[in-house]
Amino acid sequence: MSELAWWQRGVIYQIYPRSFQDSNGDGIGDLPGISARLDYLAALGIDAVWISPVYPSPMADFGYDVADYCHVDPMFGTLDDFKQLLDRAHRLGLRVLLDFVPNHSSDRHPWFEESRSSRDDPKRDWYLWRDPAPDGGPPNNWLSRMGGSAWEWDGTTRQYYYHAFLREQPDLNWRNPQVRRAMDDVLRFWLELGVDGFRVDVLWLLIKDAQFRDNPPNTAYRFGEPDHHRQLQRYTEDQPEVHDIVRSMRATLREYGERVLIGEIYLPVPQLVKYYGTAGDGADMPFNFQLLNARWSAGEIARMIQDYDSALPEHAWPNWVLGNHDNPRVASRIGASQARVAAVLLLTLRGTPTLYYGDEIGMTDGVIASDEIQDPAERRQPGMGQGRDPERTPMQWDGALPNAGFTEGRPWLPIASTASVREQLGDPSSMLSLYRRLLDLRRGHVELVQGTIENVAACGDVLTYERRYRDQRVFIALNMGSEDAIMEAPAGVVLLSTVTSRTGQAIGEGITHLAQGEALVASVRT
Ligand code: NOJ
Repeated sequence: MSELAWWQRGVIYQIYPRSFQDSNGDGIGDLPGISARLDYLAALGIDAVWISPVYPSPMADFGYDVADYCHVDPMFGTLDDFKQLLDRAHRLGLRVLLDFVPNHSSDRHPWFEESRSSRDDPKRDWYLWRDPAPDGGPPNNWLSRMGGSAWEWDGTTRQYYYHAFLREQPDLNWRNPQVRRAMDDVLRFWLELGVDGFRVDVLWLLIKDAQFRDNPPNTAYRFGEPDHHRQLQRYTEDQPEVHDIVRSMRATLREYGERVLIGEIYLPVPQLVKYYGTAGDGADMPFNFQLLNARWSAGEIARMIQDYDSALPEHAWPNWVLGNHDNPRVASRIGASQARVAAVLLLTLRGTPTLYYGDEIGMTDGVIASDEIQDPAERRQPGMGQGRDPERTPMQWDGALPNAGFTEGRPWLPIASTASVREQLGDPSSMLSLYRRLLDLRRGHVELVQGTIENVAACGDVLTYERRYRDQRVFIALNMGSEDAIMEAPAGVVLLSTVTSRTGQAIGEGITHLAQGEALVASVRT
């Protein structure tokens, strides 16, 4: 598999650092905690960890409000802890990706403190400052993704500043070349330390309309959707100039060899794939989030796979994401049984899979009492179901220990359920064993990594497809319904099934049975 880059062959595992492993009893996960669990991750069979932000931060948005881009928050440890983590990971053959948050800083970042100090400050133009509208109100109608106007009045300098998220997260002005240089230095700082790449936060939002035109109303808005969906984000996202920025980030990474640039981008596929750029000068992987809110049906997923595959530019490498810290967990979205089917899907599709911590043990969304809500998205728009605490609860290591072995203190969020790594490790039919088998299978079958995806078909509730590489061929079948089903299959041998007893059995050509909740991978003679 040598002609592929490591991030094309590999599987990425997202760690939400507050919730992975606490080492000092403060109830919040940290870098030494992650280091202590790297053996587990290596044994699981993943290839890279992406760690959500650990930079110094007032934590208004739990680290996505960065006050210093080149340091580590004491809550998570020290820069030395990070270096040790990186070193240990590399010795185990694991890569480490950081979360780069360039769209906005914290309002406590020295850059913003300088910028807001006076209209003449040399850093004034590093952020987006505008005069009030003639009536004294905000300069235009742009809405924040955390609710309300995206403009915050600054009484000292008598202008508004723009924040796509919280008022504590002012947007940087990426049209300013000094900002671009400063951010380039940030990338280089971490690349010099040896990080293997970045997941770039809200990459598609970096540039806003130069004329600050009002966004048009969204006539399809439905009550219950986030506030900013009242408008089409015509002038606040996916502006043509953003691609120039992506190109320059990519160029910087290229100077350091095989490092990966991943973009967080929530856009329809035709717009999403533009972020690959041309001839490899864009993001290596604009995150493909389609599975996060897909209608869970064979027909829908078949269409999604085909449309995505045919929309990808020639040079583009696909990727699939099943869960992250901003969306309900897969086991809560589709149920425990289908979450096993989803695991087979994720790890047999063409492209790099990204797993969210805890999904490998089937963690479900936690239930958070209303007086314990932590997430600013829920606090600012209560009752709208926007809260992200449920999918951020602590990793469940050992059900026999207090707080599931996550902390010896009081966890910052409650433990979601009794499922745990320890209990599942010894159970061959557990979700964890399934993930380990899948990761192992992927590693041993070049066609699952490098092969084409062909014959994608939905028949009733059954989704089938094949992966082929030279004379290697596997057939995948997933029962996405709630009953037993039948399917048309080629003759082969079952390499893996969610119904463990079937593994190793032969399938004869023709109609065969697929149990409720069954997904299988079979080798097929070519
Ligand atoms: C996307 C991140 O994933 C989310 O958690 C955060 O709130 C926003 N960007 C703002 O940084």
